[in-house]
Amino acid sequence: MVGIFCCILKDGKAAPIVHSALKKLEYRGYDSTGEATIHKNKLYIKKDSGTIDEVHARHNLDDLPGKIGIGHIRWATHGAPLRENAHPHIDCKEQIAVVHNGIIENFTELKKELEELGHTFKSKTDSEVIPHLIEENLNRGLPLIEATRETIKRLEGSYAIAIIYVKEPDKIICVQKESSLTIGIAENAAYPTSDIPTFLPLTKKAVTIENQEIAIVSDGKYEIRKITDWSLVPREPKLIKWVPKKAEKLGYPHFMLKEIHDQPSSIRNTLRLQDQYLELMTTFLDRAKEVFLVACGTSYHTCLAASYMFSKLAFLSTHPVPASEFIEQQGKSINIDSTILAISQSGETADTLAAVEHARLHAATILGLTNVIGSTLTRVSRVYICQQSGPEVGVAATKTFTAQLCVLAQLALRLAKKRGKVSHTEMERLEEKIEQIPDAVETILQTQEERIRQIAKKYRDIEFFLFSGRGISLATALEGTLKLLETNYIPSMTFPAGEREHGPISLVEQGFPVVFICPRDETHEKIVGDIREIKDRGASIIAIIEEGDEEIKALADDHIEIVKGMPEILSPIMYVIPLQLFAYYMAVERELDPDRPRHLTKAVTVK
Ligand code: M6R
Repeated sequence: MVGIFCCILKDGKAAPIVHSALKKLEYRGYDSTGEATIHKNKLYIKKDSGTIDEVHARHNLDDLPGKIGIGHIRWATHGAPLRENAHPHIDCKEQIAVVHNGIIENFTELKKELEELGHTFKSKTDSEVIPHLIEENLNRGLPLIEATRETIKRLEGSYAIAIIYVKEPDKIICVQKESSLTIGIAENAAYPTSDIPTFLPLTKKAVTIENQEIAIVSDGKYEIRKITDWSLVPREPKLIKWVPKKAEKLGYPHFMLKEIHDQPSSIRNTLRLQDQYLELMTTFLDRAKEVFLVACGTSYHTCLAASYMFSKLAFLSTHPVPASEFIEQQGKSINIDSTILAISQSGETADTLAAVEHARLHAATILGLTNVIGSTLTRVSRVYICQQSGPEVGVAATKTFTAQLCVLAQLALRLAKKRGKVSHTEMERLEEKIEQIPDAVETILQTQEERIRQIAKKYRDIEFFLFSGRGISLATALEGTLKLLETNYIPSMTFPAGEREHGPISLVEQGFPVVFICPRDETHEKIVGDIREIKDRGASIIAIIEEGDEEIKALADDHIEIVKGMPEILSPIMYVIPLQLFAYYMAVERELDPDRPRHLTKAVTVK
């Protein structure tokens, strides 16, 4: 996730306006910042790694000259947070500047093709192909708008793009495909941006650029066309009546709720991972003699779920180990034949890095999955994947968990394919289902949130909770427990449903709440039996069920429904959503701040 803000004025200086608007976008990313302006047919650029304040302190963003400017704040997804990877990106002749939010899926092929045509690339980003493609089309004698049109025909993926060109300094061209973009319209100025709140101090008039549209923006004017057939789109500006107090939360009261709601789009990004990274990591996993999945907290729950995915789909047996126990438990046995897949959204968790360092010193192969390019984990991994969740501010991990699960599901599927462990038909079905996850998550959020809020109200004074599940749902139950206890300080415990008679059932008494995770998978029949037994002891059952599961509905005191037909190995991605919302609304009911749980920090960098 990144943020864009652009400005075109009849008179005045664009750079300070872009600078102060970018400050409002900082919640979208903060590892690099950049601005480009045009003055007297020359391009001026300042960009660097660091937050806006850091980059401004080093380079004074405000002294860029000119009436037209584009700006960007970055959260690295392709290429480390270094100056050369910061936006805006330019062409070889330094005449075109581009800022981009999204992912260009086919950038590797495009880059190769452009390099063969003589273009020189300065960055490792996917975005840099855009100015070079435009340059190539301008070289054919096309005007900027046509050159852009030809360029976007070649792009696969998602994008909000803004383009300026020294030879046509009277316009900003904006293109939108599955990434938000709105233009603030004033009398003698226009402000294309990722988020409306950035221009509200300047104008209240807004024009949304919808999916697959292109806008030619000049001072106070705009023309919108459909990318597909180039037809003109008549669209009047709308008056924005709201004044968001907390722009960075997009109107949500807490980051945790905003990040829970980010999930349809963050998962969509995760599903656009570059093939070559997935393929490379799959190859390493395929060759590995033994695989350890190592992480802390929520990321450890990802490891647990992944162990089911790898085993069930690819017949690969893996060892999930909490990072803090790794050296003690496995330290002596690690050797050149060991492969460690370390999972850490921050890439800086001390215990995870210590486990990795130990394994490295014993010649093991290190693979990494993280949300932060440039983090220590990316530097010490032989191969790493960036999960593409965008920055997560809330201390409780939510969207980073579901993104990790999506990456692991894709890896397990590839490995299964490589090993010939799933039929062609089954493979196609699973691939189709993975693509449906963002919509399924959206549906859960739309249809179940109010119900969950009511359930939280009902249980707000309860002082102990049990969570349970079987199979892969055990990982979901563990994550639900962690969410509740870290944001609500409610002692909670997870037990594998099959273990109930070995101790946990002794806790149950009248009205005691037990949350069951019940997808309709191979464990369904058994979980029905587990629920009956616990219910017979007087427990209150809260069940997360598949839509229309009348059998469990009849047993449960409260239920939350998940869309039908999702395969077992993908179920944690959806079944965890109600548990995140439950923890959130419980905290709200109990007047706690879910974004800042006591004693906890976002990245635990001490052991
Ligand atoms: O950055 P990491 O994924 O390595 O963080 C691991 C844990 O510290 C983290 O998941 C923690 O448990 C969260 N607060 C859970 O919500």
